[in-house]
Amino acid sequence: MSIEKAYNLWAEQYDSNQNKTRDLDGISTINILSKYKFETVLELGCGTGKNTLWLLEKAKKIIGLDFSQEMLNKAKEKINNPKVTFIKADLSQPWKVDNEFVDLITSSLTLEHIKDLDVIFKQAYSKLKPNGIFFINELHPFKQYSGSKARYESEQGTEVLEVYTHHISEYLTIAKKNNFKIIEIDEQFDKEDEKGIPRLISFVFQK
Ligand SMILES: C[S@@+](CC[C@H](N)C(=O)[O-])C[C@H]1O[C@@H](n2cnc3c(N)ncnc32)[C@H](O)[C@@H]1O
Repeated sequence: MSIEKAYNLWAEQYDSNQNKTRDLDGISTINILSKYKFETVLELGCGTGKNTLWLLEKAKKIIGLDFSQEMLNKAKEKINNPKVTFIKADLSQPWKVDNEFVDLITSSLTLEHIKDLDVIFKQAYSKLKPNGIFFINELHPFKQYSGSKARYESEQGTEVLEVYTHHISEYLTIAKKNNFKIIEIDEQFDKEDEKGIPRLISFVFQK
């Protein structure tokens, strides 16, 4: 099943099913981004708008891109605010957003579905204003090495999504190639398993 179709089917239960990765992303996104000032935001793979709701507390303008119409429909049910525009778009294609338009780009739990990270970093650089921030929160590659993949249960059984493993070195190399500086790297652990494999990896890059 295509990634887009899988998210269209997942949308109905995405916000409510048990999902430690989603919940830890919500907490760590707030912890990390609270430290930064931003007014204009581009959210890559905004999904059902889980993080958009918090970003709205600080931002004056948010554009959320996602290729799953059903995930976007959930976001639109949750958020009806003139500051927010949701656009159906494939992130692997050119983003219809003005260059040097935003101070913050965020991407949570989305880049594991994108094969070519260079396409993302190249566009992120051009859409950010000078000194703008690119925040990435992803399933930790160590989790992926141990077999963890985005998945959900449906009446048809377990649906395992198509994912790509991006090593930490790959993020850093591609960021550098696209002229980003790294200003933060962090790892997020499950509360009950702080000595185990980290669940998420977080990067803050600056243009
Ligand atoms: C796990 S969800 C994360 C949603 C939200 N960021 C969150 O943290 O709850 C991943 C999202 O990425 C979107 N996505 C995956 N690949 C994409 C692509 N190539 N273009 C646009 N959206 C994509 C999916 O439709 C889905 O909504």
